[in-house]
Amino acid sequence: MEFQFNAEPYRIKVVEPLKITTPEERQQILKKAQYNIFKIPAEDVFVDLLTDSGTSAMSQYQWAGMMAGDESYAGCRNWFHLEKVIQDITGFPYILPTHQGRPAENILMMIHLRPGNAALSNMFFDTTEAHVRNKGGLPIDLIIDEGLQTDSDHPFKGNVDVDKLERYICEKGKENVGLIHVTVTCNNNGGQPVSMANLRAIREVADRYGLPFYLDAARFAENAYFIQQREAGYATKSLKEIAREMFSLADGCTMSAKKDGLVNIGGFLALKDEEKYRQAQQALILLEGFITYGGMAGRDLEALAIGLTEVLDQAYMENRIRQVHLLGESLLKAGVPAIQPIGGHCVMLDMKRFSPHIPQEHFPAEALAAALYIDSGTRGCGLGQLAFGSEDPQKGVIHYSPLEVVRLAIPRRVYTDNHIQLVTESVIRLYEERTKLRGMRVIWAPPALRHFTAHLEPLQG
Ligand code: F0G
Repeated sequence: MEFQFNAEPYRIKVVEPLKITTPEERQQILKKAQYNIFKIPAEDVFVDLLTDSGTSAMSQYQWAGMMAGDESYAGCRNWFHLEKVIQDITGFPYILPTHQGRPAENILMMIHLRPGNAALSNMFFDTTEAHVRNKGGLPIDLIIDEGLQTDSDHPFKGNVDVDKLERYICEKGKENVGLIHVTVTCNNNGGQPVSMANLRAIREVADRYGLPFYLDAARFAENAYFIQQREAGYATKSLKEIAREMFSLADGCTMSAKKDGLVNIGGFLALKDEEKYRQAQQALILLEGFITYGGMAGRDLEALAIGLTEVLDQAYMENRIRQVHLLGESLLKAGVPAIQPIGGHCVMLDMKRFSPHIPQEHFPAEALAAALYIDSGTRGCGLGQLAFGSEDPQKGVIHYSPLEVVRLAIPRRVYTDNHIQLVTESVIRLYEERTKLRGMRVIWAPPALRHFTAHLEPLQG
């Protein structure tokens, strides 16, 4: 099972040149983008760690598969290939293709939630939470306490607190709960895994109260890898066997294939229940397209079928996690406060410890993201007060985001260790000069999801 080489299990055949800019140019670019990292043209970024979603490099087999795309409206051959691959990995009989993760979430919530129902999770990703609310539902995060302690070294910080789960269901009544939907790995706290034991315990609770239990499987293969590495009894099992066991404990899953599907676009909803499948089909046709393409081109279906197989390759995954951990461990060794243990797809810098002199209402995560861009052309993503908090200056009330982090998400198969080294050095440099870091203020922001479009300005002094 062990992979012996500390090098990429692939070589590079096509390259995408990167533009070199100076710190002075980046200062101007950032100013023009109103200090919002989302508004910087991607061509002006040197190492883009904004997200690991849809940013993977595809293999020669996936590109060859793109040429074999069958663009028939109904029943294209690539669909049958994809359906078979997903059935084989998940064991779920009913598969609906979607163009990315969120339409699958939308349909899942449509078929399981009534207004006033709760949806229970470890931590909902923000689009999933929005779809729950959109159906009049109540999204409830029930992650274990260690999951929000940035320095706890619990090996499965994505676990659901099963006592809290059962207590919630008993107190509110099972008729007021629509479903359980668990994110593997848990994105919001740094790609932290969920153990098989925890999934099994959730299954037992779901059975006890007759509730449906789904996985948000965006990073299912990375979760399987952590189970293999950290949970007793799994060291000799293949990633595919572990993934299959994870799925066997659930009633279905939503999937943003832009992560562990190793593709630039795609997703799906998978189900065990035939009646729910029939309902979901109707919604799919209305929202995404016919049931054999669901908003994807035939060639995209083919690339995904191949990507889902490649992501379960042991050598691929060892190298993937090795690179994410290279960044995380190098930063931790230099004393930079990052969420520990390092997760599957990203490193999260803990801004409450990185720059305690900047209060959350002065957006320390955005301040560091801006400084990082100017220093090395690296784009990370602030996830804290601007994204999840709110301030009401009239009433003097501040609702604080529990975590204040800069996420450095690593695209799959895209950057070399030299890029990682450049980012490491840049973060360490900024950490050494952290007392110089100044907060930001919001000049303009929309009422919801403000971090995507807000205009910011650095505070003086
Ligand atoms: N679930 C999880 C756990 C996710 O991380 C995402 C997307 C989605 C669902 C939604 O999928 O974007 O395909 O519609 N996460 C991206 C990120 C955007 O940067 O973490 P989608």
